Amino acid sequence: RALKLGMMPADGIGKEVLPCAARVLQSTPGAPKFDFVTLPAGFEHFQKTGSALPDETVRVLREECDGAMFGSVSSPSHKVEGYSSPIVKLRKELDLYANIRPVVGVRGTRDDEKWVDTVIVRENTECLYIKSETIEEGPQGQVARAIRQITERASKRIGKKAFDVALAREALRSKAGTSATAGRGKVTVCHKSNVLSVTDGLFRTAVRGVYESDKKSAGGPGRYEGIDMDEQLVDSMVYRLFREPHVFDVVVAPNLYGDIISDGAAALVGSLGVVASVNAGDTFFMGEPVHGSAPDIAGQNKANPIASIRSAALLLEYMGYSDPALKIYKAVDDVIREGKYLTPDLQGTATTSECEEAILRALQK
Ligand code: NAI
Ligand code: MG
Repeated sequence: RALKLGMMPADGIGKEVLPCAARVLQSTPGAPKFDFVTLPAGFEHFQKTGSALPDETVRVLREECDGAMFGSVSSPSHKVEGYSSPIVKLRKELDLYANIRPVVGVRGTRDDEKWVDTVIVRENTECLYIKSETIEEGPQGQVARAIRQITERASKRIGKKAFDVALAREALRSKAGTSATAGRGKVTVCHKSNVLSVTDGLFRTAVRGVYESDKKSAGGPGRYEGIDMDEQLVDSMVYRLFREPHVFDVVVAPNLYGDIISDGAAALVGSLGVVASVNAGDTFFMGEPVHGSAPDIAGQNKANPIASIRSAALLLEYMGYSDPALKIYKAVDDVIREGKYLTPDLQGTATTSECEEAILRALQK
């Protein structure tokens, strides 16, 4: 049976890079067969129809699809009556409570100078992003307030996800034949509980609790035996991320901090255009490049397709197909290392299509 994937290119460069990801999936040796279904979503769709995320899109994803890919949405920076971000809503509707964002350099390139190989596990459902019908950001005027929600339940499940990601990384590293380097096999809890002692305090305690109760409950070695845990305040986290990124393995953070530090970490690997993510629930997964719709370069065949292609690989990995996923990661690394077919964000001169074609060729080697 073919795997049915719901594809939502949405706006801007999403429409250029998501088809690249689909073609790479289709051409990967050892990958399952795919049945792609394109689904409407995004700001342009809102302008045409009044809906940024049609109910039918959500229904097809829920009832018919095995997984999904999202491109990027052009959310306006001012309030538009009736509009809310489809990606934020999708994460909620499908209960994709974790956004898993690996930021990894490529050996043998400039990335070696500041080596980074970290995964940011961002909580996806609460924090300052809980806007809904009942809780609005406001009032408008001289004073504005936003409500930030942290729950024990959401913090615990993201904590568990982060430790599971750390375990899965160890397994993948041994499969790929790369040995774990010093300081690996670790989860860093990112928070600001010295100031926000109640909300971030709850996040910190809940995440730490997952690890500590695993230790206690296990008579023998616990599930997370071999994984270490430490913590870092979010501001000094940014500082350390820029000075010594190699010290971080898996980082778990509330929604807003996770959003910010992962864009920051992207700078360490040269471009937002190479950073992938997967939105994960317990059984459903949606690949999504970390970048936005990049209106400054949209429609010019200039966008870097690597973030989307890596997101497709990440989706495969989380759906249980790690062998073809590893093939895609390797093909992308080969193309970055060779350096001949890189887009302008990586100081190259290649078009989106030329970069994709180079990756397709590397896959067949
Ligand atoms: P952005 O990520 O779209 O762009 C930031 C910078 O990175 C721009 O200079 C852009 O050209 C460059 N860039 C991003 N992706 C690239 C790629 N694949 N290849 C080459 N260069 C790339 O962020 P920005 O400009 O802050 O936001 C633009 C729009 O995107 C906004 O409407 C925003 O709401 C939306 N956005 C959507 C997200 C999503 O769909 N999940 C996430 C972030 C922003
Ligand atoms: Mg972001």
